[in-house]
Amino acid sequence: SQLSTSPFAEHVGKHPGEPNSMEPALLHDPFTGYGELREKGPVIRGRFLDDTPVWFVTRFAEVRQVLRDQRFANDPAFARGSSREGTPTTRLLDMLGMPEDLRVYLARSILNMDAPDHTRLRRLVSRAFTARKITDLRPRVEEIADELLTRLPEHAEDGVVDLIQHFAYPLPITVICELVGIPEEYRPQWRKWAGELVSRDPKQLAKAFPAMIDHIHDLVRARRDALTDDLLSELIRTHDDDGSRLSDVEMVTLVLTLVLAGHETTAHLIGNGTAALLTHPDQLRLLTADPALLPRAVHELMRWCGPVQMTQLRYATEDIELAGTQIRKGDAVQLILVSANYDPRHYTEPARLDLTRHPAGQAENHVGFGHGMHYCLGATLARQEGEVAFGKLLAHYPDVSLAVEPEELERVPSPGNWRLASLPLRLG
Ligand code: HEM
Repeated sequence: SQLSTSPFAEHVGKHPGEPNSMEPALLHDPFTGYGELREKGPVIRGRFLDDTPVWFVTRFAEVRQVLRDQRFANDPAFARGSSREGTPTTRLLDMLGMPEDLRVYLARSILNMDAPDHTRLRRLVSRAFTARKITDLRPRVEEIADELLTRLPEHAEDGVVDLIQHFAYPLPITVICELVGIPEEYRPQWRKWAGELVSRDPKQLAKAFPAMIDHIHDLVRARRDALTDDLLSELIRTHDDDGSRLSDVEMVTLVLTLVLAGHETTAHLIGNGTAALLTHPDQLRLLTADPALLPRAVHELMRWCGPVQMTQLRYATEDIELAGTQIRKGDAVQLILVSANYDPRHYTEPARLDLTRHPAGQAENHVGFGHGMHYCLGATLARQEGEVAFGKLLAHYPDVSLAVEPEELERVPSPGNWRLASLPLRLG
């Protein structure tokens, strides 16, 4: 399995008393595993991936507090020793023998930046992700969903079809590729790369990363001759107007980030959410009886089974006291979204899936999309895709059901991510 071949698994158990993100209890049942840590305390000493010492922040209030606190930086240069050598990512790159000219791309990713660079990039790209633009996109998202769902029975074997493969993946990939401007013929390749990237298998990563960078450079060259109104063209215009607003490397990394962030995550919101609905018939009935419940339902599904269970590491830029724990300058901090989203200090009966939990018309009340400056740029799009996906699936196939027992659903073991390997359904 991916777990046993992972180079990170060997570190499990090396430091008794310091929970490791790769140990089975945290990897296979993060809800229980991190939930137990949360009840031990708001800040817990632990280990991440390659044995990096981290502070797990486990409770809702403290997670939001750290994500708002600019003394915690995303830039790995703030890791202890002020050296990029000090992070799991850089050590992984070392392991891969990743050349320096490729590392610059990671360093310029929006998720690895702090103000003022982060603010500048975020402002540029936010213009392409306004609520208005996303709303305008809705009919197209619905059209794509209808097409995929109509063709779903073609993929059935013995009456069973895998929703992950034939709906949950292709929907967001198509949407984000259209938005960014990735031509159709390259989409299967992107999907393969994205899979290789999340596998955390160093060999696959070493191959996929340079290939994606090269490919984006090619796309940019080709698009320059025929600019359109897609996001790629918009970024090229911004870059060419004034290179100080958006550098070459930043432009390429931004495209890469958007395409990758835009499909794996949303695909698994659709997968996890569908599985949740089909295993909670009372909630499913509520939703089919009242499709207007969809926006609230998506908030709750994001809380209850969101696909992203922890943020990137943050680094303390000075000594900071957090909920009674002394965090030292350079320490790494990991915000555990899954335990925060089940924090009984914040929710009544957190383990209960309750599609009516979030009052109508109110902002979401969970941290599944993060919080603060790095709050998910694609949240509005992802929510919309979720609403369309669940709504359309149930409209096309009102009698849809799981084709296996719930316990037989297989997860992809990956720390920080909650994803199904497949979701076998009978369409009814
Ligand atoms: C950031 C989750 C969909 C683009 C984030 C963060 C989370 C997250 C938790 C914050 C990470 C951190 O603070 O370390 C999700 C989930 C999604 C989703 C659960 C789907 C259900 C998308 C989509 C896009 C996207 C569709 C793009 C179109 C981004 C970007 C950032 C981000 C660019 C970085 C923002 C920044 O650093 O300022 N996402 N995301 N995400 N997400 Fe998403």
